[in-house]
Amino acid sequence: MTRAAAARRDHIRAMLADLRMPGALEAVDEILAGADGGAFTAAEAIERLLAAQISLRNNRRLQTAMRSSRLPAIKTLDQFDFAFQPSIRREQIESLHELGFIKRRENVIFLGPPGVGKTHLAISLAIAAAQSGRRVYYGTLVSLIESLEQAKAAGQLSRRLRVLSHPALLIVDEIGYLPVSRDGAVLFFQLINARYEQASTVLTSNKGFEEWGEILGDEVMAAALIDRLMHHCHVVNIRGNSYRMREHTELWQSIQEKQNEPSAASKRRRREVQTA
Ligand SMILES: Nc1ncnc2c1ncn2[C@@H]1O[C@H](COP(=O)(O)OP(=O)(O)OP(=O)(O)O)[C@@H](O)[C@H]1O
Ligand SMILES: [Mg+2]
Repeated sequence: MTRAAAARRDHIRAMLADLRMPGALEAVDEILAGADGGAFTAAEAIERLLAAQISLRNNRRLQTAMRSSRLPAIKTLDQFDFAFQPSIRREQIESLHELGFIKRRENVIFLGPPGVGKTHLAISLAIAAAQSGRRVYYGTLVSLIESLEQAKAAGQLSRRLRVLSHPALLIVDEIGYLPVSRDGAVLFFQLINARYEQASTVLTSNKGFEEWGEILGDEVMAAALIDRLMHHCHVVNIRGNSYRMREHTELWQSIQEKQNEPSAASKRRRREVQTA
């Protein structure tokens, strides 16, 4: 490398440090070596440099979000096997992950039986949102109601409702598994009311809307709640098998196959019979 080329590299590194771009700084030497060696074009080199910085920034955002959002796990779209769940329209899910619905303050509801990926997809939307720098918060219906009840008992309900209406994306998971009290349902209604047309909510339920009256203990309130949620809403109805059970099915099948395979002892016996 000429002295001028080495000086230019030092200058690039100094500029990346000055701009506080540690992801790009870490990747720059390898990218320049690849570009000098003809492995990729100048445009590709710039693309790789910027991608390295964006990837580091997104990871940092995600780490921060994981601390404050109470997301129970990291589940991403690329971990989702669409072939396993053919009732899901891949284009719909991919387009939701572009996050236009958050800009438009629309809601998303995942409906379906256990294990079909409702929580997985809700979390992957939250992760995409967190990586794009938005505030997200996760709760099950029961845990959100509990926190509202505690706030109410402490005389801080309106403050808590304000806090919960701040995140650009709120996940309300598991509507329908555990019963909620009538007072709890009223608090949930207030929460959805506070977020209505202000910010997006992603909800999951194992029960169809016709059963929400029973879950919330009040048909009229459930109807008003669904009315607000559905006003600007994407409904993803998943019909299919549980992914959890798939793992058991495979285990079960492999046990079956092993049982059908002749054992070493029975193979030996068969040989002995043939040679006798
Ligand atoms: N299509 C899929 N591809 C990859 N992993 C999947 C898929 N569907 C579900 N999973 C995984 O299976 C497990 C169960 O999925 P998930 O928790 O999303 O189900 P759910 O619909 O929320 O069920 P429940 O109603 O019981 O809460 C999770 O670990 C999830 O990551
Ligand atoms: Mg779930």
